[in-house]
Amino acid sequence: MEPIPINAPEYVKNLKLLQWVKETVELCQPDSVCWCDGSEEEYDRLCAGMVESGTFIKLSEEKRPNSFLCRSDPSDVARVEDRTFICSIRRQDAGPTNNWVAPKEMKATLNKLLAGCMKGRTMYVIPFSMGPLGSHIAHIGVEITDSPYVVTNMRIMTRMGRQVLELLDEEAEFVPCLHSVGAPLEPGQADVPWPCNDTKYIVHFPEERSIVSYGSGYGGNALLGKKCFALRIASSMARDEGWLAEHMLILGVESPEGEKDYVGAAFPSACGKTNFAMMIPPVEMEGWKITTVGDDIAWIKQGKDGRLHAINPEHGFFGVAPGTSVKSNPNAMASLYANCIFTNVALTPDGDVWWEDMTDTPPEYLIDWQGKPWVPGCDRPAAHPNARFTAPASQCPVIDSEWENPDGVPISAFIFGGRRGDTIPLVYQSANWYYGVYMAATMGSEKTAAAAGKVGDVRRDPFAMLPFCGYHMGDYFNHWLHVGRTLSDPPRIFGVNWFRKDENGKFLWPGFGDNMRVLKWIMGRVHGRSGAVESPLGWMPRYESLDWGGLDGFTREKFLKLMSVDREAWKQELFSHEELLEKLFDRLPKEFTHIRELMLSTLWSSPEHWELAPERYTAEH
Ligand code: GTP
Ligand code: SPV
Ligand code: MN
Repeated sequence: MEPIPINAPEYVKNLKLLQWVKETVELCQPDSVCWCDGSEEEYDRLCAGMVESGTFIKLSEEKRPNSFLCRSDPSDVARVEDRTFICSIRRQDAGPTNNWVAPKEMKATLNKLLAGCMKGRTMYVIPFSMGPLGSHIAHIGVEITDSPYVVTNMRIMTRMGRQVLELLDEEAEFVPCLHSVGAPLEPGQADVPWPCNDTKYIVHFPEERSIVSYGSGYGGNALLGKKCFALRIASSMARDEGWLAEHMLILGVESPEGEKDYVGAAFPSACGKTNFAMMIPPVEMEGWKITTVGDDIAWIKQGKDGRLHAINPEHGFFGVAPGTSVKSNPNAMASLYANCIFTNVALTPDGDVWWEDMTDTPPEYLIDWQGKPWVPGCDRPAAHPNARFTAPASQCPVIDSEWENPDGVPISAFIFGGRRGDTIPLVYQSANWYYGVYMAATMGSEKTAAAAGKVGDVRRDPFAMLPFCGYHMGDYFNHWLHVGRTLSDPPRIFGVNWFRKDENGKFLWPGFGDNMRVLKWIMGRVHGRSGAVESPLGWMPRYESLDWGGLDGFTREKFLKLMSVDREAWKQELFSHEELLEKLFDRLPKEFTHIRELMLSTLWSSPEHWELAPERYTAEH
């Protein structure tokens, strides 16, 4: 049988693209090809088609205009780290923290799976730009997919459509991203609402700068501009070209005096980036303003002024729904008022969405994320713990005025934080760039529902990039050290932990908007205003150094508990770094060994009551 024609629109000039689409049609054998133009008409048509096929449920036009609910297959609800591969030519370039298979072998495996995998389906060609169109920091990708769900999500998450192809001349570079749900249809075979395959492969070829994803339709597995391109492939490009691709939110912070700074913060998946990126400061901290540039990914390059400048390569939020409420994150809730796609949340009888902790009292009756009846107390969550919303970033009430600036925004500080019930204090400042890089590299966090597998165990998640670094993690640490050396005035580096618990398992820190108190101290450090005392970890605030306005119940005793550096716990913590460092030993920065030794000996020779560290010192710096 002759393969169907690719029917490229006249504005497609790129020769490599035309060739790749032709080859993919021959390999995957779709019924038809659709070149996505990114128009509203196209979006509406695809959504209507999915409503008809049962993939989408249209939500109430009054409650949630132009929005849809989608339920995935229960086996396809999160990223699959054990099925994610970095197929560099040499095994050692992927490093021991990534799965690796030789590119040739992987291509043979994939080609078998891809042969005829789009039978009975439409193949969509999605041109997209990560970053503002034409920005010198931005890059172009083209995703081929057989999932209309992916097309509609990509239209929200990226700058997508015809204008991208018009920018892509004959010889221009782009990252080819091939995606299939792996569920061909025989003639006459009925489709299911969420086609997918038990066999899954999320594969990256860093030297070729290409991506192939098979078997999953969900999130980072399928929206290939996000983790696959903007983090795994881009981190490898960034290493080669001297920039940074990071799992970071970017926020603007303005003081009552009108001093404006930008901050990049890396927290692992489902550890509070979206919340921190758009938090509302407590009313008592009048005059402090937070604005959002991005909530998940930052591409950072040195500007002509010698500072680091960051763009958000994305155009939307793919955020964790459970836990998001008018109380915890009003700006996220406001961003969801319309034009959204909700995946794996619950449906209310009046055609709206609900998820755990969205309201204090759950509705009396719901349809849960699997389409089953749900009542409060029935012992199952109504929404999947990794249920997500896809929302246009432009709908965020506090989106920063510079968020689409093609030159990015200048970064004044980096913040790193994991989810740790013990050991790690609320906030500390690393003594210098080297200590900061060591701290970020050895960051630990309890595993969340954002990835498949057991939730709760502490694992090392360097820079919140463990699942997203597209090359050897030891080289990545060296790259960070190198970038610091090229800067005359590098951003200050801070560690935070919003998740420390007391002996009853309750969070010690109120978190959310109150994180502004910590950020205020951080900005004060950046500008030489905030007081700090020495500790074995770096600089720390005293009780007096934080703004407590409106948080009367928060006593000095509670603060000391939250800030304590327990000597035994910290020795254990430093010992536990060894597992990661040993794994990476052949490419580990030599600085790391010395920093760890020095921290250990500092703890060894320290006085007994480190718990009182912030109070012990009298000298302010
Ligand atoms: P990805 O999108 O997966 O990369 O994650 P993210 O870091 O953007 O996650 P998000 O902000 O959506 O985190 C969601 C979870 O963190 C929810 O369970 C929130 O309730 C919780 N969370 C966010 N901020 C805080 C905080 O300050 N304190 C506490 N205790 N929980 C928080
Ligand atoms: C994450 O897991 O860090 C996410 C969601 O941001 S996903 O795009 O599915 O990877
Ligand atoms: Mn993320």
